[in-house]
Amino acid sequence: MNDLVYLDNNATTAVHPEVLEEMLPFFRDRFGNPSSTHWAGRRAKSAIDEARGKVARLVNCDPSEVVFTSCATESNNTAIKGIAAARRSRGNHVIATTVEHPSVLTPCLSLENQGYDVTCLDVDEEGMLDLEVLETAITDRTILISVMFANNETGTIFPIRKIGEIAERHGICFHCDAVQAVGKIPVDIRESRISLMSISGHKLSAPLGIGALIIRKGVRLSPLFHGGHQEKNLRAGTENVAGIVGLGKACEIALNTMDGESRRLRALRDRLERGIMETIPDSRLNGHPVLRLPNTANFSFLNVESAALLAALDQEGIAVSSGSACSSGALKASHVLKATGSPDGTTVGTIRFSLGRENTDADVDCVLEVLPDLVGRLRKHEVRNASLCNLARAGKQ
Ligand SMILES: Cc1ncc(COP(=O)(O)O)c(C=O)c1O
Repeated sequence: MNDLVYLDNNATTAVHPEVLEEMLPFFRDRFGNPSSTHWAGRRAKSAIDEARGKVARLVNCDPSEVVFTSCATESNNTAIKGIAAARRSRGNHVIATTVEHPSVLTPCLSLENQGYDVTCLDVDEEGMLDLEVLETAITDRTILISVMFANNETGTIFPIRKIGEIAERHGICFHCDAVQAVGKIPVDIRESRISLMSISGHKLSAPLGIGALIIRKGVRLSPLFHGGHQEKNLRAGTENVAGIVGLGKACEIALNTMDGESRRLRALRDRLERGIMETIPDSRLNGHPVLRLPNTANFSFLNVESAALLAALDQEGIAVSSGSACSSGALKASHVLKATGSPDGTTVGTIRFSLGRENTDADVDCVLEVLPDLVGRLRKHEVRNASLCNLARAGKQ
């Protein structure tokens, strides 16, 4: 087996060593409840305020617009349910796309169960949204448009600024799940006319369990949680001070290193893509050929099962993710790949490679060394290519 290779950074990233260093004092002696008025509380509160400024600088908003949450799932739920409740008297129509993350689609479904109308717009085979289709979907009852900045599976980047302009022209609130974009490509909330934006710490080298929802000035919404007065009454619950400090530091690092790092990752990713295309016949690169995150490469391989390929790569020490989900023992193409017209995961295996800060040329070499042979053997059934959610599970630690 090769050295371990981690190419699943869209799932989660390693915590940056400087982020960890910044957080450690808050697990030791710099404790304190930020709501307390004594020295320990004031110290915690000032650490939060400093982090708030760093998050705001990365996405170009005012620090007062940053609300810390526990994760992007919470941010997405707060934005969608909160706006729907606050604007109920103005209308009951919400627009999203079919390729949103489940943490957007499921709250939309829950709104539908409460009597709201939800329109989920299709994307084309490159995963791109047609803006004319968006304009046509808007009615005088539309209160919210929710479109992600970049897709987590294919990496396709949406025309966010144009969507923002459309929303602004119609006086509609625009929520953007920017989880996969923040820290990887420039995100400017003001320029893009975004009303609410979700961020997740663990996708940008901060720890799990911390996120943020940016709520632009003047946007009113009903909070999800009720309790204390934290985060200006928008997110009750004692703040995760260490996590917030970590997110702030991660945003500061991203701001200072994004240009160089995204160039480096794009070069690695492009070499991986070229290598796969040149050595593996019947492979297809999914997502938009150009408007794509610099770290993401999503491939489909004909006559290979996603789960079997995932498990075979895992046996080689290579961690990636598949575009298929196991559901009741059957393999199904993910909703994102289905939306782009990809067949189900039993005939076409789909694998997402997502690179990050730790990846080097050696990791790309390692994939290019083993993947063509694995795909070839799976196609010839030399490696078991059965419908194997179990194999995939057994391979996972
Ligand atoms: C696009 C997108 N939105 C939301 C989430 C949810 O983020 P969290 O794990 O912070 O809840 C993810 C996580 O995979 C994601 O990729």
